[in-house]
Amino acid sequence: MNHHGGRLDGKIAIITGAARGMGATHARAFVAAGARVVLTDLAEDEGRALAAELGDAARFVRHDVSRAESWEEVVAATRAAFGPANVLLNNAAIYFIGAVDAASPEQVRKLLDINVFGSWLGISRVAPMMREAGGGSIINLSSLAGMLGFPHHAIYGMSKWAIRGLTRSAANDLGPDGIRVNAILPGAIAETGMAGTEPLDPGQLAAIPLRRRGGKEEVSALAVFLASDESAYITGADHVIDGGRGVW
Ligand SMILES: NC(=O)c1ccc[n+]([C@@H]2O[C@H](COP(=O)([O-])OP(=O)(O)OC[C@H]3O[C@@H](n4cnc5c(N)ncnc54)[C@H](O)[C@@H]3O)[C@@H](O)[C@H]2O)c1
Repeated sequence: MNHHGGRLDGKIAIITGAARGMGATHARAFVAAGARVVLTDLAEDEGRALAAELGDAARFVRHDVSRAESWEEVVAATRAAFGPANVLLNNAAIYFIGAVDAASPEQVRKLLDINVFGSWLGISRVAPMMREAGGGSIINLSSLAGMLGFPHHAIYGMSKWAIRGLTRSAANDLGPDGIRVNAILPGAIAETGMAGTEPLDPGQLAAIPLRRRGGKEEVSALAVFLASDESAYITGADHVIDGGRGVW
């Protein structure tokens, strides 16, 4: 694909969890805006198929975000394919809902390992490459569940609250090197693995001022903005995209 004057021309992005859901939509939007993208995921077949569809500007690497060795492979593959990355989208995560005292220690450890430790690993493994690239933009997926106390969201919620703290301190540490770090806090987004496809019930809908779920592409538009130089003076910030659900 050939792009001229794209908003992400010259960007080399790593997107985790890019085989499905919002990660896949972000990968499409990034390539359409002129970026070259390394898509990573545990789901190999879907990831490879999407990268093949996106063409020369995309590669797929099998990746477990919770393992440091796996990040080393992603960093090496990115360098070999396109050069040092200047964008990292920490999107991969797992989800479960249940009462705070209902989860097993193994379930909780696994969720924190992927959602929190995996995001920290990504920042720590990719930041050195961004310094080489002369700076960059790191985007971490938090959630409205990382700002509020939704029922049955204690475990997932604590992982997403942690992401906001990680984002702010990392922005402090990496800012002098020209590396920006921001968090996206989506509300209910339609047609993702996590949200499913069932319509919201009237009570859930009434709690959203815009009276609908968000579209994956709407979150991708925010991710493209935060990856691009249009957001060059924005770092350490929470970017809520929730149809107004978080206002009360
Ligand atoms: N869907 C929503 O409404 C919503 C709302 C708020 C926040 N979010 C956040 O947005 C992000 C994307 O959510 P989604 O709904 O598109 O999710 P999804 O479940 O559709 O996709 C997540 C992807 O991550 C991959 N993944 C899981 N564990 C992995 C691991 N260890 N290593 C690498 N890849 C792994 C999965 O295989 C999957 O392809 C997540 O961080 C999620 O917490 C989603």
